[in-house]
Amino acid sequence: MEVKIFETKEQMGIYAADIIENVMKSKEFPVLGLATGDTPITTYNELIKRYKNGEISFKNVKTYNLDEYVGLPKNDKNSYYTFMHEHLFDKVDIDSENIHIPDGNPADIEKFCREYDREIDDAGGIDIQFLGIGRNGHIGFNEPSDKFTEGTYKVKLTESTIEANKRFFEKESDVPKYAVTMGIKNIMKAREIILMAYGFNKAEAVKNMIEGPVSPSCPASILQNHPNVHVILDKDASSLLKK
Ligand code: GLP
Repeated sequence: MEVKIFETKEQMGIYAADIIENVMKSKEFPVLGLATGDTPITTYNELIKRYKNGEISFKNVKTYNLDEYVGLPKNDKNSYYTFMHEHLFDKVDIDSENIHIPDGNPADIEKFCREYDREIDDAGGIDIQFLGIGRNGHIGFNEPSDKFTEGTYKVKLTESTIEANKRFFEKESDVPKYAVTMGIKNIMKAREIILMAYGFNKAEAVKNMIEGPVSPSCPASILQNHPNVHVILDKDASSLLKK
């Protein structure tokens, strides 16, 4: 793992955008794995800026998002579909056919999940996967458990995740209890990974991810076994690291 520590979220976003731009320029048809949440916003803003300056184009880019809530209408203000359109897709030249976000309301969830995995494989796999981290060490919506997950699946969210995400909803009971997420195996198959975290409330998860044992009780710890991970932190998120 390459660990870089920055002063501000904006600097973190610039560094992540540099890595993503590199991938976008080195591939004819780049495949990006994307994340939602507050964490990627400065990176998306930086990518939009570079697009507007004519430095990068999303014309040949395919994207696969990590996850989506189950049960929210696609256009709900809190769906990850809405988030991605507002924060990135509506502001760049991506072809809508190249955007893939898990369907939170499929008729047959198992069938949908197998198709999502197959589509990623058919696209040639993910060149670079962007990740945030939950306070409990989750990546995507892979919650702490007793085994690492495989392909895309429907997951029951933990109380800690519901609590962390309630800030976006009017009341806690409005937060969906389930999500569809890529599994750990999908994430580990990406050729390159960025994991970004800022703030004290991520420090414990960051410590467990980097210095703890590789264990499904901290799903992000599996990244220790990946050969090409960039961990991008601010001082607060790195404050519990020993080294
Ligand atoms: C959600 C998402 C994760 C994200 C996490 C952290 O649970 N499913 O992909 O990494 O929240 O979000 P934030 O970046 O807002 O702290």
